[in-house]
Amino acid sequence: MRHLMSPLDLSVEELDKLLDLANDIEKNPDKYAHACDGKKLATCFYEPSTRTRLSFEAAMLNLGGSVLGFASADSSSASKGESVSDTIRVISCYADICAIRHPKEGAALVASQKSLIPVINAGDGGHQHPTQTLTDLLTIRTLKGRLSDITIGLCGDLKFGRTVHSLINALIRYKNVKFVLISPEELRVPDYIREDVLRANNVEFEEVERLEDAMSKLDVLYMTRVQKERFFNEEDYVRLKDYYVLTKEKMQLAKEDMLVLHPLPRVNEISVEVDDDPRAAYFKQAQYGVYVRMALILTLLGLAE
Ligand code: CP
Repeated sequence: MRHLMSPLDLSVEELDKLLDLANDIEKNPDKYAHACDGKKLATCFYEPSTRTRLSFEAAMLNLGGSVLGFASADSSSASKGESVSDTIRVISCYADICAIRHPKEGAALVASQKSLIPVINAGDGGHQHPTQTLTDLLTIRTLKGRLSDITIGLCGDLKFGRTVHSLINALIRYKNVKFVLISPEELRVPDYIREDVLRANNVEFEEVERLEDAMSKLDVLYMTRVQKERFFNEEDYVRLKDYYVLTKEKMQLAKEDMLVLHPLPRVNEISVEVDDDPRAAYFKQAQYGVYVRMALILTLLGLAE
């Protein structure tokens, strides 16, 4: 039985196979419409979500399976004090596979250790968000045609943004990927990402504060929201929340084929006027999230060809 806690749980070969499967699902949805007949997905979300939970549910429904679960800790027995370990033992009696989101780092790992069914980490605190990373990789590979030989700018809250941490971990395994880390001083990537992931693997990266200084060299710009829910202090959040706003004017500094990605939800960091720019790919990215989650469910259930 396999779980998915981090994008590194999949080898590069397995990842390529999964992305190939997701591309095939996009092209031939009918072929997969009954692949999970009789199977059930549980979505256990202790933290708010729109995309991750609903795209997991859409993925299982598209495969012919069914879904059950809860969308907040308040509506589950966690509110009565039940542990994640006990909850997953019970969910194992009701479902064939489970996606879990929790505000505490490591909660999905704890669940996987007690689970009798495959567990997917759908976001654990400020730590990892591996299925967002699978979505990001599928989007980049499909729209740019490659995952190697790219310069990617990661902009915004690089400290608390778990999608950023997962994406860096995944992309360093490809050749000639350069990172431009764009953030205010207080929201720089955690030390372990800089030292243990980037420097330890001799990955080329630079840290800059001004988005304008980075734009012209980027093949992909990955914008992120300032993670209000992870701040201890409202004043700091208010001061930093609008630090970056991607506008039409700033887009003029970018390459003609630069992709703009964002895991969403967006707050103010991308002006709505950018949505009509053909380089804005964040809504397509949300669509790719369904195909890649379909591929992941099939893979973890041992139903992929
Ligand atoms: N990208 C993402 O995780 O969105 P949700 O929080 O809406 O699931």
